[in-house]
Amino acid sequence: MSDNPGAEGGKTVKIGVLGRGTVGSALIGLLEERAAVIEAETGLHPVVSGVLTRSQGDGEQIVDEADVIVEVMGGLEPAEALVRRALMAGKPVVTANKQLLSRKGDQLFPLASEHGAALRYEAAVGGAVPIVRVLGDTLSATPVERVHGIVNGTTNYILTAMAKRGESYAEALKDAQDAGFAEADPTEDVSGSDAAAKMALLAMLAFGTWVSIDDVDHTGIDKLDLQDIAYAREFDLALKLVGTAEKLADGSVSVRVHPMFLPMTHPLASVDGSYNAVTIESPHVEEITLQGPGAGGLPTASAVLGDLISVLHGADEPKHAWVTLPKAADVDSAFYLHFEVDDEPGVLSQVAQVLGLQKISIRSVAQKGSGDGARLVMITHRAPESAMAAAIGMISGLGFVRGEPRAIRVFDEENA
Ligand code: HSE
Repeated sequence: MSDNPGAEGGKTVKIGVLGRGTVGSALIGLLEERAAVIEAETGLHPVVSGVLTRSQGDGEQIVDEADVIVEVMGGLEPAEALVRRALMAGKPVVTANKQLLSRKGDQLFPLASEHGAALRYEAAVGGAVPIVRVLGDTLSATPVERVHGIVNGTTNYILTAMAKRGESYAEALKDAQDAGFAEADPTEDVSGSDAAAKMALLAMLAFGTWVSIDDVDHTGIDKLDLQDIAYAREFDLALKLVGTAEKLADGSVSVRVHPMFLPMTHPLASVDGSYNAVTIESPHVEEITLQGPGAGGLPTASAVLGDLISVLHGADEPKHAWVTLPKAADVDSAFYLHFEVDDEPGVLSQVAQVLGLQKISIRSVAQKGSGDGARLVMITHRAPESAMAAAIGMISGLGFVRGEPRAIRVFDEENA
């Protein structure tokens, strides 16, 4: 930190800000607005010593001249090189970059420890929802069995707009982009990759094992059909993009992100708009749900600022002594199934027979439409996902099935 006197006569701390998008701009505003509070809290007056934008600034020089680095530029390069440069110089880094951490965290966290530099990332998951601190610190000695999360604000905003206001997918995506929720490339949001990166980090915190985004199976919302949302409402189900991180009885870990139908009674079912929410399940604490604004400039910048204050306080860094846990080979899920079929005798029984062969039990079934527009809509009980994939493959090959079958996971209260 610098000995230069700050505005109130205290020491200054030079903050190098890498990125001036939605979050960077909000942070720079907050640093000015909250400067007196930061100084009162930490005894240090924050000064933005450099800002790297797409067109201006020298990243290396900004890192070299600052005391603390805030990385809110996103993407892998040059973010990774600049974060490494800061850590190797022993400078604390606060980042919101979930893609970087979920791909390179196995190198970056040890590098930070080796150089005694803080590497904080509350803003990388859940926007303003303080989930990183709760899992990594408050619950660090609690045996977590499962974490469910709505961890992408853009997709939750889109699904809410489609389900509640009947907006088209494209219209809702544009609104989410205009509001500053979406990533620079919204494909990361709608493909589930943003949520997968965040669930990898939550799994790492929950189970104390390194999880890369490459270990997270994910499906996005870009291929959903409005019809399915409408049918599922008849079964009293809400559609959300849900991340699940769980430790199975055999000690293996499964982390996945998929559209999922939730019963209206589930705590995540009523989380709407750009809000995020995470439920943590443990025999010691039953279930804890944290919820709040999950995207956007100010909520995310407020999480960055909280980390910055911790760093300026010199708070102890969480340790990353990871254990090695295997990746689960298969998991059980209940499914919603939609088949376009010929409207003929025996069709339903043949579909049911294939499901039965794979030991998949049907919970409810309905026929929609008739003649050329006939469709079978089913909800199953839980079964291994590999068995479901095999059954769908077999059903697709039956002569009376038209179009691609659709399968969406359903949260099953009985067993989950
Ligand atoms: N694009 C992200 C979201 C926000 O929509 O949740 C930053 O993580």
